[in-house]
Amino acid sequence: MPETATVAEDATGELTGFVRVCSVDDLPAVGAVQVEVAGAKIAIVRDSAGDIHAIDDTCSHANVSLSEGDVEDGEIECWLHGSRFDLRSGKPTGLPAVAPIAVYPVKIDGGDVFVAVTKES
Ligand code: FES
Repeated sequence: MPETATVAEDATGELTGFVRVCSVDDLPAVGAVQVEVAGAKIAIVRDSAGDIHAIDDTCSHANVSLSEGDVEDGEIECWLHGSRFDLRSGKPTGLPAVAPIAVYPVKIDGGDVFVAVTKES
């Protein structure tokens, strides 16, 4: 099973647990960068609509960095065997990968990208 993200709410209902991972300006116009959060490799991805996503950087098919793949139409393509993953759900949309990758909550604040990565214990 892939790790899943959990986010706590404080007394005001605000999401907590977000950490700054990069600036929006660090991202390509369309594409991804790899960041590390609490030892986990995360791909921060800007899609062609300008939306920013955080997903596990490792393909569910083999140990390949997804942030090195192409981003198109809300999906990222693994460069090794061509599986594509939906950036919102983490689900593969083509073989050979069959397992989803984790998707993490993202918040943009003051030009910075924040991600909540809390592994369930
Ligand atoms: S390693 Fe990603 S599809 Fe095979």
